[in-house]
Amino acid sequence: TEYETILVETRGRVGWITLNRPEALNALNATLVREVVGASTTFDRDPGIGAIVITGSAKAFAAGADIKEMAEQGYIDMYLNDPFRGWAEFERVRTPLIAAVAGFALGGGCELAMMCDIILAADTAKFGQPEINLGVIPGIGGTQRLPRAIGKYKAAELVLTGRLMGAEEAERAGLISRIVPAAELLDEAALVAETIASKSLPVVYAAKDALQAAQETGLAEGIRFEKQAFAATFALDDQSEGMAAFRDKRTAHFSHR
Ligand code: HXC
Repeated sequence: TEYETILVETRGRVGWITLNRPEALNALNATLVREVVGASTTFDRDPGIGAIVITGSAKAFAAGADIKEMAEQGYIDMYLNDPFRGWAEFERVRTPLIAAVAGFALGGGCELAMMCDIILAADTAKFGQPEINLGVIPGIGGTQRLPRAIGKYKAAELVLTGRLMGAEEAERAGLISRIVPAAELLDEAALVAETIASKSLPVVYAAKDALQAAQETGLAEGIRFEKQAFAATFALDDQSEGMAAFRDKRTAHFSHR
């Protein structure tokens, strides 16, 4: 497929999506949203892909929704046409998504990172929800995922003031898993992605599903979900293989069955 705003590549069992609108700091316009969602769901349907990395440039992961495009829109465009509805499909991607963030991850860019399962950040990363400065509020999950990630009070300060936070602060707050020197960000993301992709795909799906339940349900319901998903892994060849490999003191070779 030909893409206009992203670069797409497969390396072994890892799918790579690089946001590529340098002239707009990777602002999420309608084409980019359609393409990121399209490329992610295409990777997701491919059993040869075990993890997906989403990254931007050294200067920007993504500086938010495309303000020049949004400036022309009214209430009815947002409500009826909902240019961001593609993200609902993105949220249903079962393959683990790793956001490798350097530079700005603002507004919709921060929200895109938060829709991923893991956020790795370069020391140059800057996160924020500056929508308040534009006379709007976050619209693709920022007011919901940020407080769940970093707590209500810190999220409120960021959303209400529009202040940006650097990588150190983001790590302390629990938004990101790790800070990596900028020059090593992509190698580190590749390592994390390859590690995940080497595990059993259906078991990885089950783990991601259960982790998502933790974000979306109460504790008792989440524990019940986990119990069922855990039991279900015992129906897999890969459970037998994983445990046999441990017993035999060798590396497991998963068949993704
Ligand atoms: C469109 C953008 C853009 C954006 C940057 N650009 N961000 N275009 N939408 N979100 C464009 C600039 O207009 C400029 O192009 C070029 O990218 C380089 O940006 P500069 O501003 O010149 O760079 P710099 O001075 O380094 O400043 C970087 C920056 C700033 C601090 C990130 O660009 C900025 O504040 N951007 C907007 C961040 C923001 O408010 N994001 C939230 C968007 S609202 P030209 O051609 O003009 O020189 C949102 C809502 C989500 O995301 C929810 C929707 C439902």
